[in-house]
Amino acid sequence: MAETATLTYKDTTIELPVIEGSEQEKGLDISKLRGSTGLVTLDPGYKNTGATTSGITFLNGEQGILRYRGYPIEQLAENASFTEVSYLLLYGDLPNKEELAGFDRKLSMHTLVHEDIKNFFLAYPSKSHPMGQLISIVSSLSTFYPDSLDPNRSAEKVDLTMIRLLAKFPTIVSWIFKKNIGHPIVYPQNHLDFVSNFMHMTFGQRTEDVEIDAVIVDAVNKLLILHADHEQNCSTSTVKIVGSSHANLYASVSAGISALWGPLHGGANQAVLEMLENIRLDGGNTTKWLDKAKDKSDPFRLMGFGHRVYKNFDPRAIIIKKAADSVLEKLGVDDPVLEIAKKLEEAALNDDYFKSRKLFPNVDFYSGIIYRAIGFPVEMFTVMFALGRLPGWIAQWKEMLELKSPIGRPRQIYTGHNERNFVALNDR
Ligand code: SDX
Repeated sequence: MAETATLTYKDTTIELPVIEGSEQEKGLDISKLRGSTGLVTLDPGYKNTGATTSGITFLNGEQGILRYRGYPIEQLAENASFTEVSYLLLYGDLPNKEELAGFDRKLSMHTLVHEDIKNFFLAYPSKSHPMGQLISIVSSLSTFYPDSLDPNRSAEKVDLTMIRLLAKFPTIVSWIFKKNIGHPIVYPQNHLDFVSNFMHMTFGQRTEDVEIDAVIVDAVNKLLILHADHEQNCSTSTVKIVGSSHANLYASVSAGISALWGPLHGGANQAVLEMLENIRLDGGNTTKWLDKAKDKSDPFRLMGFGHRVYKNFDPRAIIIKKAADSVLEKLGVDDPVLEIAKKLEEAALNDDYFKSRKLFPNVDFYSGIIYRAIGFPVEMFTVMFALGRLPGWIAQWKEMLELKSPIGRPRQIYTGHNERNFVALNDR
């Protein structure tokens, strides 16, 4: 017998079904609430509201659990390639050898970006923010592929659109990087694996001269896997609400990239490095900056700390912290901000303000240190987050269409003026 919750409001009592997921999470199905009682719920930031059921990613914030399609993130980060994880998120299972070879082959056939897109790069100011470029270029892909505009076309057409976006995104990211540093672009070498090809296009000097550092490829592969999906976060929810109107995939993902840019979300990885640099330039006084973060009259927050869901630890932060140590050591990089980050983390984890609010380092706290050690400028950090999150956005968009989810249209509680009559300009 399915559980229910009883709601009594004035002289109306209704039974609301309790939905239970495969990990024993429970939710109240309120789809009949307004029709039965005239009430809507109010939940700013949707802190208590589930937008959908989903079979893609499972998080447990108290236990610090993160699994993609049931596989623990620790095992995927250690053993899988980013394209294996992308396939897993998109199609539901890890690919066998033939499936992975076919997926890699399909991706390799679509890595080139239409040469006309170079004109976009000429138009951007030389030091314009890479996220602004990425948002507009990804949305513009829809103008090059009019057959992608209808997400309800055949499954083959939808799959081709997903493959095109996955395959071209690294090329676009590398072109943005090259523009940022004023270097000529490097074209894809499709005999290389996904991450090696990306690193060659980004840090290579000439298309034909391939020099790949295995340590860096391994670190980037791990970072992209750790960012690949995170259930109904801000940017994914944005992709889905735009996609729920049946806008095309490029437009939906472009909207998600916009949401990711915010410093409270993916933009935090850039904000963390800027914060650590400020602390370093300020003499490394971590106590002073912790006090600022705790001071309600001070707008400063400890970037890279806190999370809407994780209230114990972010499992990704633990993996990235270890990777930061090993990558910097292998690259022989001695980055003073790494020591400041560790000092800051140590102090915050022992501070009542942070402990009482369950504020721990999140995925963004250490990732920027690795990106900087590899050679990315700080304004490229959130673009790297988007590169990692892309398969998750696409998988969640695909699932939303498969579930035939209705267009997203939340209600509100109006608190403005009651009815009043128009007043002519001369009488105001
Ligand atoms: C990502 O959702 C996802 O899954 C996101 C993500 C993903 O993979 O998609 O994991 C990626 O976005 C990680 C988060 C990156 N953002 C930051 O690091 C920015 C700094 N963190 C915060 O702004 C904040 O912690 C959030 C936005 C991450 C979470 O905010 P919530 O859940 O809305 O929590 P809150 O703002 O209500 O804070 C609760 C309390 C408040 O204090 P009180 O009013 O109770 O006294 O904690 C305080 C906040 O002031 N607080 C902080 C803080 N974060 C929360 N105080 C100082 N420094 C911080 N970082």
